[in-house]
Amino acid sequence: MSRYSRIAGTGSYLPPRRVTNQDLAAELATRGIETSDDWIVERTGIRARHFVDAGVNVSDLAAEACRRALEAAGREAASVDLIIVATSTPDMVFPSSAAILQHKLGIAGCPAFDVQAVCSGFVYALTVADAMIRTGSASRALVVGAEVFSRILDFDDRTTCVLFGDGAGAVVLEASDEPGILATDLHADGKHVGILCVPGTVAGGKVLGDPFVKMDGQAVFKLAVGVLEDSARATLAKAGRTDADIDWLIPHQANIRIMQGTARKLKLPLDKLVVTVDQHGNTSAASIPLALDAAVREGKVRRGDTVMLEGVGGGFTWGAVLLDF
Ligand SMILES: CC(C)(COP(=O)(O)OP(=O)(O)OC[C@H]1O[C@@H](n2cnc3c(N)ncnc32)[C@H](O)[C@@H]1OP(=O)(O)O)[C@@H](O)C(=O)NCCC(=O)NCCS
Repeated sequence: MSRYSRIAGTGSYLPPRRVTNQDLAAELATRGIETSDDWIVERTGIRARHFVDAGVNVSDLAAEACRRALEAAGREAASVDLIIVATSTPDMVFPSSAAILQHKLGIAGCPAFDVQAVCSGFVYALTVADAMIRTGSASRALVVGAEVFSRILDFDDRTTCVLFGDGAGAVVLEASDEPGILATDLHADGKHVGILCVPGTVAGGKVLGDPFVKMDGQAVFKLAVGVLEDSARATLAKAGRTDADIDWLIPHQANIRIMQGTARKLKLPLDKLVVTVDQHGNTSAASIPLALDAAVREGKVRRGDTVMLEGVGGGFTWGAVLLDF
């Protein structure tokens, strides 16, 4: 009998402080920076995002998302034997946010580690967990995307600070006789490091370089649309499926124009596209599990539906996961 991995439950958490475009524009105006709801909505589809308060870390958001995912799956934290957190905004330089999360969930002993692939982080983490479950190294994983991007935004740079938000999403992924995850596809090309990065680091007790998000928006836009179509097609081919089999497309939620462009290339009607970017902004590694959980709780994604998850982000990294929910 074959061994697969399957999502048993989803959960997510947004910090309570909701910041609309109007709120942000008013805040930026106090710094002499001009932006508007119209500009942000027209170029990105974003209307609001959530920001954490001081002292709240990625592991706090992740813990709440995991509690909700475990509850939805009807599983105890003690039964989890693998924790993977995708994040680019960890609590500390080390240890991993996954290890800190494990303790916050009141468990100990199972492997826990972070995956760093920026906005592709969740599809990377899900792919690693799927492989570990299929090979018998784990039986029940918490796979999490969690970010506090507000910590690395330069609120004097209107070209980036209006785009991102904070949040966390999680799935319980467990061994199953039935798929589950049908196929995965991951890529990276490090020659594009400079178009989307946070070029700072810590050394000698100081921040070296610039610890804020830098982005060439147009270069990212052009690369993203092409690689997302290629990765979706590669994943479908590996699974022996076609674009007509996709019930729901849940791409990384960065920009509504990129997402709709991908849906059109896959010949999917736009009502099969799950959209949360309007309410969450770009939450990097958290965006896909946040959108998946929202779609499940709204009754859109149901058991048996075929779902394409797609990530793209800094590195450049990109990839996709096709699954039967
Ligand atoms: C960032 C992005 C929204 C910018 O949209 P764009 O149409 O490319 O806009 P441009 O960068 O050409 O800027 C157009 C003008 O708007 C201005 N502008 C930039 N940010 C602004 C803001 N927040 N408010 C008002 N004006 C703004 C620019 O200064 C520029 O003005 P100019 O023409 O006088 O020079 C778009 O490129 C994008 O979404 N890229 C992909 C980003 C992404 O998905 N990143 C995450 C990937 S994981």
